[in-house]
Order: sequence, then C-alpha cells, then structure tokens
Amino acid sequence: MHDVVDLRSDTLTLPTPAMREAMAGAEVGDDVWEEDPTVKRLEEAAARRSGKEAALFVSSGTQGNLVSVLAQTRPGQEIVLDADCHIFNYEVGGAATLGGLQTRGVATERGFLTPAQVEASIRPENIHLTVTGLVCVENTHNRHGGTCCTPEEIEAISAVAHRARVPVHLDGARIFNAAVALGRPVADFARPVDSITFCLSKGLAAPVGSLVCGSGAFVQRARRVRKMVGGGMRQVGVLAAAGLVALETMVDRLAEDHDNARRLAEGLSKLPRVDVELQKVQTNIVIFRVDRPDGAAELCAGALAQKVKIHQIGPGQIRCVTHKDVDADDIERALETFREITSGW
Ligand SMILES: Cc1ncc(COP(=O)(O)O)c(C=O)c1O
Repeated sequence: MHDVVDLRSDTLTLPTPAMREAMAGAEVGDDVWEEDPTVKRLEEAAARRSGKEAALFVSSGTQGNLVSVLAQTRPGQEIVLDADCHIFNYEVGGAATLGGLQTRGVATERGFLTPAQVEASIRPENIHLTVTGLVCVENTHNRHGGTCCTPEEIEAISAVAHRARVPVHLDGARIFNAAVALGRPVADFARPVDSITFCLSKGLAAPVGSLVCGSGAFVQRARRVRKMVGGGMRQVGVLAAAGLVALETMVDRLAEDHDNARRLAEGLSKLPRVDVELQKVQTNIVIFRVDRPDGAAELCAGALAQKVKIHQIGPGQIRCVTHKDVDADDIERALETFREITSGW
C-alpha cells in the first residue's frame, strides 16, 4: 500500500535499492571511446536476450526509435506504420525533421498492421512515387491499451516486407510485457525483424535507458546516428548498471502488473458510464471511456483529491498503467475511489 496510487504511467517507477547500489559501485569508462565496461556488459546482455548480434545503449525509447529509423533509411523515403503508433504520434516528428522521411500511417484494429496492409502499403517502382524504406511495428501497443501480437504475426508481416527488400523495425518499448504475457522469449519477437528497441525505464523500473539491437553492421550505423543526435554519453555505466539489474531482476515480476491491470479493468467494467474493452487488457495498460459530459475530467480530478493519479488521454478517454510501485491493495483503493465518484452517475 502506497500513500499515492500513481497509475499515470510505468515510466514513473522508481529505481530499486539494488539498482542504486549497482549505480554507486559501477565500473565506468568513456563510452564514446567504447571503453565503458558496464555499458558493454549491458549491451551484450541485450544482444543475448534479443538474439541479435549486437546492441547499443541509448538514452530513451524515442532516441532508440530515431536512431533505428535513421540508420535504415535515406531522406525522401517513406516509412509505413500503424496510425496510432508511438513513432507516428508522440516522437515530435523526428523521422520527418531529422530523417527527411515521409510517414504513412495505416489505420488498424488492434494496433498491428496485417500482412495484406503491409503488401498494399509498399510502393511499387514508379517514377511518381517515393521509395518505401522501412516498416515499423509496435509491441505491446501503447495507444491500443497494451495489446500484444505474437512472434508469428510479426513473422508474417516481416516476410511481406522482406520480399520487397524493405527492412522492419520493432518498437518494443514494452516487449518484455508481451514476452511475459504470451510466455515467449523476447528473441522470438525479435528474430523476424531487422532492429528492435526496448526500454529499461518503463515496467523494468530503471531510471534511464533503452537498447537498440540488430546486426553488427546495423548497430555500427546506429552508433554514428546516436552520436549525431547528441546521444554519445561518457561514463554512462552508472546508468547501465541499473539497466543490468532491471534485466536480471525485474522481468518475471511483470506478471504481477498484468494481474493488477486485469483486476483494475474488471472493477472498472462494473462502474456506471464506464466502458472498458476487457479483451484488450492483455498486459499492464487499461484504457477506458467515460460516457458522460466532462465525466473523464471529473473522475481524474476526484481521484487526484484522494491521491489516486490517472491520466486523461483524449476526450472521454482515460489510461491507467500498472507497475511495480502499485500493489494489489492500491488497485482496491483506486477502485473504491472510482466507485465513490461514480456512485451518483
Ligand atoms: C510504445 C512506445 N515507444 C516508445 C516510447 C518512447 O520512450 P521514451 O519515453 O523513453 O522516449 C514510449 C513511451 O512511452 C512508448 O510507449
């Protein structure tokens, strides 16, 4: 039980005592010179977990996606992605501004392009058209409420892209949530794609950092792009040390977050004027709608007054995210608070 129940995001997780201890004692060097032993250990661990040849430590999921996209495309090309994905909506247009790329957002039902949609989106050879440079997938899908797709689904869309000689990037900011939910190793999701980004700073609770994984040649290009966007950090082993603890100790417990999300969603589904699609609650995110004028804002404000923090993400739409700093008692308290607020609705 915590004083404040903060369900706004899993990025709010605080580092564990073991992480702080590892950070304080980390062996470090200049990572731009590739001389930081702790960063190297983390990159090796990430490459192993993803089944890829190499990995690169970056400052954030946004930077990981940006360097992955830029390292695999040329200015003037087009990248194909789901219209609700993070890269398209929440990364400040970096692909367009810094990569000179055109983005083609395709509407999907669950956040995942189908093989037929990928096929239809890849530009044929024609003097009037730009060239398709990359296909992006997001798993789990944030805007669709933490939905996951299987390694076989990724394999199917990658096969279509690869037939057209188009590489595939996986924004796996929360790929460990998908791996735990589906009982599959991360390497199964990463195998069909050319690059994957995953975050240490969300459900895995490290204070900072993400990893980009792929072939040795891809990571070499990504390293140059990272330097270009100011991501060459020096004695950054102090951060990588926390990341190693995150990978070693924080993955299996994600199942608890998924159980709490389910409990929360089931409780919410019983409230008046609240609509939650239970089949979409597959990991640690619960998105629900409030069908009452200004009801979402009322619920957020009423909950905040009771020290329960939730996040409105659109008109009538609220997102809750479970994580290691929210326990089962906190979920009960949040539900009790929501029941009180909605009792007159
Ligand atoms: C799916 C997805 N990709 C990328 C990111 C970006 O991560 P960061 O906030 O570390 O830049 C997020 C952040 O929430 C995300 O949900």
